[in-house]
Amino acid sequence: GGSITATLFPGDGIGPEIAASVKQIFKAAGVPIEWEEHYVGTTLDPKTGSFVTYDSMESVRKYGIGLKGPMATPIGKGHKSLNLTLRKELGLYANVRPCLSIPGYKTRYDNVDLVTIRENTEGEYSGLEHQVVKGVVESLKIITRQASMRVAEYAFHYAKTNGRKRVSAIHKANIMKKTDGLFLQCCREVAEQNPEIVYEEVIIDNCCMMLVKNPALFDVLVMPNLYGDIISDLCAGLIGGLGLTPSGNIGDNGLALMEAVHGTAPDIAGKNKANPTALLLSAVMMLRHLNMNEQAEKIQSAVLKTIEEGKYLTGDLGGNAGTTEYTNAVCEKL
Ligand code: IPM
Ligand code: MN
Repeated sequence: GGSITATLFPGDGIGPEIAASVKQIFKAAGVPIEWEEHYVGTTLDPKTGSFVTYDSMESVRKYGIGLKGPMATPIGKGHKSLNLTLRKELGLYANVRPCLSIPGYKTRYDNVDLVTIRENTEGEYSGLEHQVVKGVVESLKIITRQASMRVAEYAFHYAKTNGRKRVSAIHKANIMKKTDGLFLQCCREVAEQNPEIVYEEVIIDNCCMMLVKNPALFDVLVMPNLYGDIISDLCAGLIGGLGLTPSGNIGDNGLALMEAVHGTAPDIAGKNKANPTALLLSAVMMLRHLNMNEQAEKIQSAVLKTIEEGKYLTGDLGGNAGTTEYTNAVCEKL
């Protein structure tokens, strides 16, 4: 058949190198995707009032699918995070972060297989902070029924369509009675409509303890924005770090922007040292989202085999291969 166009944000720092790795592997695997590349963050677009250009957001809206490398937000007064701007402006309300042990890459755990689903538009990320009087500042945590319902619905939908059995709502409603209370109530309502999925509620501090003691206790976890930010890093740590974990931002009508969660790593940028795995696995998520399951499987298993074999690992995984050697090794396994 014909090919699909997808938006690509190579991003900053190591972004262009790991994006090149994805492009090379997609080509080698014969994936019928054309990339429309966009670079953002250098000029303020008067149309958006942001460093994220109007054209780049239109591109994601038009094609409905995109892949994003790490972005450095220009420092200065009122410069909002490019990452957050994309999520908010594109209405990407659910952030899906699968975390799966990588066979052959040894950590303290060999049985991690869970998915964090993070509310992606509100909570403490609403950007509403101000000084009340000198020495007293205030931050507004916004929780709405609408955003909580749609992320809860997404979590149960995800569980059902991915063969998962359990959804755990993570919260601190014993203290945050109103905000987390509303979030939990929405999760309960959705749980009642999905009796085939086991539903439980776990207080976040206890959840952290359980995760490091025995991550196999968890399956799908759904939670408000800031908790999801923190828990997903904790989970990434269980399997070897942010260089290995993919992430997907999901909106209405199938709109999706997959991204590597790690930073731009300016210290190793341009040195052929970056590990492209997180972006590669995000690209695999993108393929599954497009129902290109065969290619997704092929690339994922080539990536996992390369890591398991251990001959061409990048520095973060204890090896001394460059990004390009690792990428070539993946291509040979396709
Ligand atoms: C993430 C990142 C972002 C966040 C930053 C870069 C704004 O940590 O995707 O988890 O806090 O959401
Ligand atoms: Mn984070």
